[in-house]
Amino acid sequence: MKTFSIIGCGAVGKTVGRLLQQSGSVAVRDILTRSTASAQTAADFIGAGRPVADFNKLERADLYLVASPDDAIAACVRELCRTDLLDRDTTVCHFSGSLGSALLEPAAQFGAQLASVHPVKSFADPAVCVGDFAGTWCGIEGDPQARELMAELFSAIGGKIFNIDPRFKTIYHAGSVLACNYLTALLEAGLRAFEKGGVPRETALLVMEPLVRGTVDNVFRAGTARALTGPIARGDAGVVARQLDALESYDGQLALIYRALGSVALELSRERGQACAPGLAQIEELLATARVGAS
Ligand SMILES: NC(=O)c1ccc[n+]([C@@H]2O[C@H](COP(=O)([O-])OP(=O)(O)OC[C@H]3O[C@@H](n4cnc5c(N)ncnc54)[C@H](OP(=O)(O)O)[C@@H]3O)[C@@H](O)[C@H]2O)c1
Repeated sequence: MKTFSIIGCGAVGKTVGRLLQQSGSVAVRDILTRSTASAQTAADFIGAGRPVADFNKLERADLYLVASPDDAIAACVRELCRTDLLDRDTTVCHFSGSLGSALLEPAAQFGAQLASVHPVKSFADPAVCVGDFAGTWCGIEGDPQARELMAELFSAIGGKIFNIDPRFKTIYHAGSVLACNYLTALLEAGLRAFEKGGVPRETALLVMEPLVRGTVDNVFRAGTARALTGPIARGDAGVVARQLDALESYDGQLALIYRALGSVALELSRERGQACAPGLAQIEELLATARVGAS
């Protein structure tokens, strides 16, 4: 059976380590962190593995999973390269969503196969995460052989595999920031506009809730273009002009957001094909023209 060792074993290392060990498709060998005590805690959680705190103590494994924080991955790989454990039969993999497998490149000099797996999940509590990992989407990129191995191992623990283009991994990662973190920021922007309209925040949240939930449901049921409603979906240039004008007088930042997202909405409206072309052309012009003196 193939063996794996974990370098850096916190939330992700513990969860993935235990699931892989339990799957029976690979066996854990060493667990390395910066102290034997924390490596021991991880080994206890995984239920197997030899705790070590020094790269010189690592033994040969088929697969090295670097599950340290992003900032420490490069240093961990440099240390791993100083051992004589890497060759063409070893695979080295990290779990960062924003960094590519190219970060592991020093290991390729020894012939090692490289990959990165990004499990799209928030790993807060490993004890909970081992129970609900099944169904987690896992973005993979790297060398073909390493990708194949990681896809096989992660499928065996319930992961759902998709491929990432390594050249644009940072942009891929920004996608989650835009869709999740910025959704929160966007709702805050919406709340501020409601408040300016005399609706207290608590009431505004109640009013917005069914709107927002309905919209999100529509996006996942019908796709973004068909879920789009409102003035840009209708090609109603008059409403867009008045709203832009009012927002610019009230808060330049909200007006900027309105313009930037309005241009994405415009593309969706064109794709949807329900609004008249002259209305959309007028909206395009409005969105592109900042009012003189606006911040
Ligand atoms: N957390 C998430 O939700 C999540 C989701 C997807 C992907 N990821 C990715 O998964 C990776 C691990 O994240 P995490 O949240 O599991 O991190 P974490 O909980 O902070 O754990 C990091 C582990 O690395 C060890 N460590 C730190 N510096 C080290 C070094 N220089 N050498 C060896 N070990 C070191 C730490 O142990 P000691 O402090 O005891 O040394 C700890 O065991 C990151 O690449 C992250 O981007 C995380």
